Amino acid sequence: VQPYFTLNTGAKIPAVGLGTFEAGDGDVYPAVMEALKVGYRHIDAAAIYRNEKSVGKAIRDSGVPREELFVTTKLWCTQHKEPEKALDQSLERLGLDYVDLYLIHWPVALKTTSIKDGNMLTVPLRDGARDVDVDWNFVRTWELVQELPATGKTKAVGVSNFSINHLKELLASPGNKLTPAANQVEIHPLLPQQELIDFGKKHGIVTEAYSPLGHNGAPLLKNATVQEVAAKYNTGPAQILISWAVKRGYVVLPKSITPARVKSNFELVDLSAEDVQKLLDIAKNEGEKRFINPDWSGFKVFD
Ligand code: A2P
Repeated sequence: VQPYFTLNTGAKIPAVGLGTFEAGDGDVYPAVMEALKVGYRHIDAAAIYRNEKSVGKAIRDSGVPREELFVTTKLWCTQHKEPEKALDQSLERLGLDYVDLYLIHWPVALKTTSIKDGNMLTVPLRDGARDVDVDWNFVRTWELVQELPATGKTKAVGVSNFSINHLKELLASPGNKLTPAANQVEIHPLLPQQELIDFGKKHGIVTEAYSPLGHNGAPLLKNATVQEVAAKYNTGPAQILISWAVKRGYVVLPKSITPARVKSNFELVDLSAEDVQKLLDIAKNEGEKRFINPDWSGFKVFD
């Protein structure tokens, strides 16, 4: 039986899901196919990855019954004022009737004034940085998003890249009627996020980890401590990083377009408490590092 966590809706979310960020349209189809063949039941997508068509086609072609799958996609920052329309568009691209989880991708809306061709899946820039709409607030986005489960188009809703301060502001806002089911953020040994994970547990928000291997090129696989622990368990460093997440109690979303890696990343090991701690000590000894940190025109997203 695959490890899973339980959302505040009562639904089960498989602990390991396939990430699809920066997976090209042609590459993501075989990767999702391989994932579903070797036992993954959780696929993490996003409108801005611009590959939902291929992700959805693989899901539909796989033959795995829809009800056995957990599919997430995300609201892009240009569509904070029209989340139901954005969700409709994602479902259309995916070729699915519903998703299991719909996330606000970032706690920031982007201005749409520079979008000339009507394509909302752009990253509007001003002076080379993301053009934040400072007149909008994510709390207003959440007021719209919290109504989406009632449409049946998504089973649950949540957020991504939210800090503790963002979550506190959301939960305390007068228009808030629903606690987010999940918060997807960057987590790995150089960014362990213990407080954020604990805050989530206290409030019934499942935390999800992206970039568990350190993003492009998986730099954490070369970390000496990770390699030392891998040798002890007679496995690879990627399996150690993924198993560490599940043991700490959050969902983990390793991305790969390489079928052999997709397969091996799904082979978990049972880490001892001592080795979980050894990996936690990496940030203390080597300092923290965030790999995903876009420039939002001076606006501080990670506060
Ligand atoms: P690729 O997709 O070309 O296979 P993260 O999940 O932390 O964002 O890491 C994604 C990066 O890690 C991608 O560059 C991916 O390459 C690479 N990667 C994923 N799994 C493995 C693995 N088991 N061994 C080596 N590199 C991996």
